[in-house]
Amino acid sequence: MSTEELGDVLFSSEQIDARVRELGAAISRDYAGRDLVIAGVLRGAAFFLIDLARAISIPVALDFMAISSYGPSSKASGVVRIVKDLEEEIAGRDLLVVEDIVDTGLTLGYLLRILRERGPASLRVCTLLDRAVRRIVEPPIAYRGFVVPDTFLVGYGLDYRQRYRNLPFIALFKPPA
Ligand code: PRP
Repeated sequence: MSTEELGDVLFSSEQIDARVRELGAAISRDYAGRDLVIAGVLRGAAFFLIDLARAISIPVALDFMAISSYGPSSKASGVVRIVKDLEEEIAGRDLLVVEDIVDTGLTLGYLLRILRERGPASLRVCTLLDRAVRRIVEPPIAYRGFVVPDTFLVGYGLDYRQRYRNLPFIALFKPPA
């Protein structure tokens, strides 16, 4: 029987924490005096969004969105359905969308188009991980934690069948064959 295998740790809890603090400091500088809303895309971004918010020293509103693909093949199209929308009104405000990982960029590409129509004063993206080698469309990423190779990763929000999200570190993972 093949088993799931947790591999090497790619980013330790300490490394993640240090990078999140740097990102938080940069965001605090860039948005000083602005009306900032940071919005995480569930479920993966939840851990990062909360830690990032704690690393931001200016007043900020927190919000979440949840999306779901229309079907098994739909991930490839990037067409997603919003199953939980933002609670915040974003017209005229600065919106920073927070992701755990950007792969093809299709999800974000679609989401940004929808959000732009609501007339935010600015719309930017912060992702913890950037798996740039998988990119198909190039959503503008203003802040990125780490560029990662094309490997299966779990932890700190990233899952395998909904498990391992709660690991405080990010590790390589070998799904069962
Ligand atoms: C992940 C991630 C992004 C999306 C990126 O979510 O959080 O939303 O995939 O992929 P893309 O750049 O190829 O579009 P996932 O669908 O795994 O859901 P989850 O956040 O609930 O884990």
